[in-house]
Amino acid sequence: MRLASKVAIVTGAGAGIGRASALRFAAEGAHVVAADIDDASVQEMVSMSSTQASGSIRACQVDVASAASVEALITTTLEQHGRLDVLFSNAGIQLDGNAIDLPEEDWDRMFAVNVKGAFLCAKYGIPAMIASGGGSFLITASVNSFYAESDIAGYSATKGAVMQLTRAMAIDHGPGGVRVNCICPGWTETAMSKPYLEENPKGREFAAKIAPSGRIGQPEDIASVALFLASDESGFVNGAAWNVDGGWTAGMTKAIALV
Ligand SMILES: NC(=O)c1ccc[n+]([C@@H]2O[C@H](COP(=O)([O-])OP(=O)(O)OC[C@H]3O[C@@H](n4cnc5c(N)ncnc54)[C@H](O)[C@@H]3O)[C@@H](O)[C@H]2O)c1
Repeated sequence: MRLASKVAIVTGAGAGIGRASALRFAAEGAHVVAADIDDASVQEMVSMSSTQASGSIRACQVDVASAASVEALITTTLEQHGRLDVLFSNAGIQLDGNAIDLPEEDWDRMFAVNVKGAFLCAKYGIPAMIASGGGSFLITASVNSFYAESDIAGYSATKGAVMQLTRAMAIDHGPGGVRVNCICPGWTETAMSKPYLEENPKGREFAAKIAPSGRIGQPEDIASVALFLASDESGFVNGAAWNVDGGWTAGMTKAIALV
């Protein structure tokens, strides 16, 4: 029970990495508030979740790009559970395009969800964590925080931004007892990666081959690292960016050789 009695919020919990993390946190004893803009998806996840989980999961609809919505999420969590120990700011969207063809509204929406969303979760969540005696704030960044790929200029910019936000907040809030870290997944099999993996004839093969581990990541691979960073086991980890990519970024030369 690595998160016994801890209260955790996971955003983007209706699907993919967020769903796997919310389920894992609850299995390890946390009381989880599973938040997503798609209310039906979190309601479905809560109804599917095992009653044997030693913690609990409640669904909450949130739009992380809206200050009022994020503030309401924190208020509701405190009303229901009285404290906040872990906030996993994971919700994100990817809209493709280079700087010339990416529509301005797509740029704005990605920054609103991926960057402002993390900022708003911190703005309203970190004070609650400090009042609870400290905690762990996590952001899902990406291998694209470090490395660019073609046709995702705006998305890469948002992921670079949240990695730097992670570092800035670790410095500001470490003394208050709040650790801030980000996870940088490589190709992970979710709805977000599905278009590339399934519509591109060689997408799946390429995504597996570029990782020295030889496979595409699963949401549970990311959830395992999130669990460690959420737990007290990572008590001296602060301001770090954790690549969880099967060695993709260590094996850049392999990727280049495959192109
Ligand atoms: N899948 C990958 O290969 C991959 C790689 C690197 C990073 N990531 C990052 O992982 C995170 C999770 O993505 P995923 O792959 O699980 O994708 P996903 O599409 O399966 O899940 C994203 C979830 O976020 C929710 N969401 C979207 N906008 C929201 C908003 N405004 N407010 C609240 N919830 C919102 C969606 O409804 C969805 O349930 C994202 O930040 C993504 O950028 C994914």
